[in-house]
Parts: sequence; structure tokens; C-alpha cells
Amino acid sequence: MRILGIETSCDETGLAIYDTERGLLADRLHSQTQLHNDYGGVVPELASRDHILRLLPLIDEVLMQAQLTRRDLDGIAYTEGPGLIGALLTGATLAKTLAWTLNVPALGVHHLEGHLLAPLLETPSPAFPFVALIVSGGHSLLMDVQGVGRYELLGDTLDDAAGEAFDKTAKLLGLPYPGGPALAQLAQSGVAGAFKFSRPLTDRPTLDFSFSGLKTQVMLAIKAQGDDRSRDADIARGFEDAVVDTLVWKCQRALHRSQRSRLVVAGGVGANKRLRERLLALPQCDVYFPRPAFCTDNGAMIALAGALRLSAGQREDSIIRATPRRELASLLPPAKVGDD
Ligand code: KG4
Ligand code: ZN
Repeated sequence: MRILGIETSCDETGLAIYDTERGLLADRLHSQTQLHNDYGGVVPELASRDHILRLLPLIDEVLMQAQLTRRDLDGIAYTEGPGLIGALLTGATLAKTLAWTLNVPALGVHHLEGHLLAPLLETPSPAFPFVALIVSGGHSLLMDVQGVGRYELLGDTLDDAAGEAFDKTAKLLGLPYPGGPALAQLAQSGVAGAFKFSRPLTDRPTLDFSFSGLKTQVMLAIKAQGDDRSRDADIARGFEDAVVDTLVWKCQRALHRSQRSRLVVAGGVGANKRLRERLLALPQCDVYFPRPAFCTDNGAMIALAGALRLSAGQREDSIIRATPRRELASLLPPAKVGDD
């Protein structure tokens, strides 16, 4: 089956075509970073309008890249949620309309299932079961994954997600949006251990994450420097090390608790170099990451997740759905859901 994937949950318009026999055939992305930069974060209405402008030309581009026409598509997968309601609706409406005109099925995909399955786009790809760490702008999750739609929540986001903590801390340091990559770059020239911030919730058995207090610690450290900004890189390094240590520690505990030896890491913070290095060094564990471009939002992961479900026979009705909030652990395996 050849599936067109459409990702419009936030500030990236991602389009891709995944073939269940030949793999990924095409992948294009338009990032709205420039558009939102002046505002220090995503402006939802601007995001929706930009998706509308980009979607149709990007569909033509992926079709051209794959040397296909619309008639060659066997189905369309779109991000149903979670995400910004207006942004989601642009992708969902286009997916349903196009599917209707082509007489092929359209299927809503959970954005985090897309992230979770993105490592399957790579070679070697992880076999089920595995533990997954999903660290994005809106979520920090640890899941035990036994197959597509067989997810057990091990640890959840209590306040700021890992990516959100990077973004907010970067803002405190006067760095541009999106803050994660900018902060990681600044941290490269910082001295490890010059600032020691806490490793939240590592002193108790829970696998949940709480990063909001770290941001406050950074704010106090910045204030204590007064007008002297010469130690910003050290502060950035201290923050990054605190987040990375915490994530590594929780992954180790999750692997131990679930008796798994495979770890999958996904979501935007999964692109963080220091986190990747530290996790790859874990003993007795195989670690799988998507390439950095597939850690952040992209159409390929939605095309893949949709292809896995559509090829297993999952179908849905023609109602246009967008779900701003939706639990990943509430999903079911493909064969059991939404018979036509
Ligand atoms: O998964 P994603 O693209 O979007 C969401 O679904 O939220 O994740 C975006 C998040 C942002 O918070 C961004 O700052 C963070 O991932 N991020 C990073 C890095 N690259 C992106 N955080 C730390 N280091 C990075 N290299
Ligand atoms: Zn995402």
C-alpha cells in the first residue's frame, strides 16, 4: 500500500509517502520557525494559515519526488491529535477531502504514535517489545511497547515537558525560538559542573517527569549573575546535563522494571546530541533513534503509522476529526478498531 502522510499538528507542515513494500518514497517538510520567531513561540492562528498555504504544493512535491500521481495513492494518513486545533483541522480536512475524491481510505493517526514508531523508518529497526522514551515539546513519556497499539504507560509528564523546559529555559537565556537546539549549541561551550541543578524526581521510585522546577533554578542562577552574561554557556550546560541525567536515569529504571533490553527514543528532544551519546553508552541495552530530522515533527512518521494501521485493515468513517488532547495509552491495536 502507498500511503500519503500529512502532519500539521503544530508549526511544521510535513508530507511523505510510505510504501509498505518499498519503504519511504518521499518526504518534504516546511518549518514555520521564521514565521513565529518574532513572537517567541507558536502563534496558533498563523500556524493554521501557513499550513493551508503549504499543503497542496507540498503534496505535489512528494508525488513528484516519488514519481507518482494522486491516483497511485492507496490511502491517506493525517495527524488527528494531539496538537493545535486549527492546525490539526487543516490537515484533517484536506486528508478527508482528497481521500473522498480518490475513493481511498483516510485514517487519523495519534501524533505521539507517529513519534513512537518513527525509529521503524531506520535500518536496523527495533523489534517489539521495547521501552520507548518520547520526549517532545508537549510530552515526556515512558511507554512499554508490545506492538502497534499495545502501549502501557510507565511514566508521564507532570508539568513542563522536556522540550518545553528546553524552550522556556532558552527564552530565559535570551535565545531564539525554538529553544532546544539553540540551548544545546550554547551548552557546547559551557563547563560541566560549573552550575549544578537538581535531577527532578530521581530520588523516588516514580517514572514520571517534572521539569518545571529546573526552569526556576535557572532563572535564579541568571538573576544571581546580574548584568554579567559571561556564564550563560555554563548555565546552559548545567541545565542540559540535569535534563539528560534525569532522562537517562529514568530510562534505565524503566528498562529494569519492564525487563526489556531494547530502548527506543523519539520526539524532538531525541535529536539532542548529548542525550543520544549518553543513551548509546548504556550497558546491556540496544538503543534505537530515528535520524534527527525524524525526531522532530515530520510527515514520514505519520505515513508509516498510518500505513501500519491501514494495511492491517483499520478504517474510520468520513467525519473530519481533530483531537487536541488524547492519551497515547488509550489506543488499541489496528485490527480491533473501527471496522468499516
Ligand atoms: O517532537 P517535536 O518536534 O514537536 C512536538 O511534538 O512537540 O519536539 C519539539 C521540541 C521543542 O521543544 C524543541 O526545542 C525540542 O524538541 N528540541 C530539542 C532539540 N531539537 C529539538 N531539544 C533539545 N535538544 C535538541 N537538539
Ligand atoms: Zn511532535
